[in-house]
Amino acid sequence: MSLKTLFGRRSTDTDTAARTAPATAGRPADGEVLLETVGLTKAYAGADGELPVLSGIDLQVQAGEIVALLGKSGSGKSTLLRCLAGLLPPSSGTVSYRSAPLTGANPGTAMVFQTFALLPWLTVQQNVELGLEARGVSPQERAEAAVRAIDLIGLDGFESAYPKELSGGMRQRVGFARALVVEPDVLMMDEPFSALDVLTAENLRGELMELWDSGQFPTRAVVLVTHNIEEAVMMADRIVVLGSRPYGTIRETVEVALERPRDRDSAAFDELVDRVYRIMTGRPKETRLPGRSEAVRLDKRTVANTPLPTASVDGLSGLAEMIAHRGNRCDLADLADELGLDIDDMLPQVDALDLLGFAEISGDDLLLTDTGTAFAGADVQKSKTIFASAALEVPLVKLITNSLRGKPDATVRAGFFRDLLAHHYTSEQVERQLETATDWGRYAELFSYDSAPQEYRLDENADLPR
Ligand SMILES: Nc1ncnc2c1ncn2[C@@H]1O[C@H](COP(=O)(O)OP(=O)(O)O)[C@@H](O)[C@H]1O
Ligand SMILES: [Mg+2]
Repeated sequence: MSLKTLFGRRSTDTDTAARTAPATAGRPADGEVLLETVGLTKAYAGADGELPVLSGIDLQVQAGEIVALLGKSGSGKSTLLRCLAGLLPPSSGTVSYRSAPLTGANPGTAMVFQTFALLPWLTVQQNVELGLEARGVSPQERAEAAVRAIDLIGLDGFESAYPKELSGGMRQRVGFARALVVEPDVLMMDEPFSALDVLTAENLRGELMELWDSGQFPTRAVVLVTHNIEEAVMMADRIVVLGSRPYGTIRETVEVALERPRDRDSAAFDELVDRVYRIMTGRPKETRLPGRSEAVRLDKRTVANTPLPTASVDGLSGLAEMIAHRGNRCDLADLADELGLDIDDMLPQVDALDLLGFAEISGDDLLLTDTGTAFAGADVQKSKTIFASAALEVPLVKLITNSLRGKPDATVRAGFFRDLLAHHYTSEQVERQLETATDWGRYAELFSYDSAPQEYRLDENADLPR
């Protein structure tokens, strides 16, 4: 694609001097704070009142930087992005653009969506112009700006095409052009590559980074939402890792000082991926302290602070067996690589093994505990027994089992657990956790679940002392 661009001058820019740095000067990294959140909290209305999704978020986005918001699914990345864009009001705390608290849509941002969000009845040119129409730009200027954006992003020749005639990659280019055409101070991207196939995503990522590095990008900062660690390390100057235990908070911020363009095969790149991975898989500090006795650690677990990861018994057993085959210990990044998986696709299984006491995270490695080794090597009956005693240490499984044991008819409606969990989690999180608990409880032969009356029933074997 031609990187020759007409974006050096801004026809609609009557703004500050800082915005009109010549294209040849590279990215203007004057450090001006463009976006800022202070004590941002966001809660959605749930079955049981307000459920916090984000809590205590203090974040700044400065001119000249690409900031990645990285986290597992459900950690509140999109919510944070929408708050920054002024599309969602905070529940408490403030969001400001150039020091002015937002009262509505952020005038300094434009958004690229995972699903492209194009209007099918409009051509590429018309879709791109759309962004400007809303801002009252004259038709003549609109057309010119759209052509510039279309050229910049490699869509020349597609101006009169309709979205349905385009490949996914080309459609997302339209998404980019539509956002860039307004020359926003901050370009917001919500998992912009995750609906594309691997090669297309890689190609588009590369082109965008080339534009950014060459200073031709008509925006001063970028906020990228992603669940892909490598993508974050590839693109960002700063990675903000969001954790969701139980509410979305900033777990840690990682500066990425790697030279651009970045070399995915370098040791430094690998090291950083491993480090970020460790942060994402990290337990809260207190449960990681060595020397702390197992009993105290387990005692502190509650349904509220120990959500069940979305990992089936099959999935976590599969991972345990793979680690066992590698000598009970392996580097997670390498394993993911071998399997052709995104490293974060394995996080729920890793969490599950850890939660069950089958594995521990040590540095970049995952190592099986003695129990985990026994579990991986056991025949079905034996593995069920091992699994059952481990699962009974998991608060939600224990809660369900003990509740059933306390009932004369040994049954409890799912709604009972749903209500209890609703105090701490969103309804989606509640459903996912109940599904996992059901899978684990069934395998362990602790309890069964009947979906018609939505009832849990104690397994006959579960009454035996364990
Ligand atoms: N409009 C909404 N109403 C209620 N809950 C929501 C809404 N949007 C998102 N959530 C919940 O908030 C949590 C965070 O969602 P989201 O910000 O989309 O996370 P991410 O982008 O990291 O996957 C999830 O548990 C999700 O179910
Ligand atoms: Mg999202």
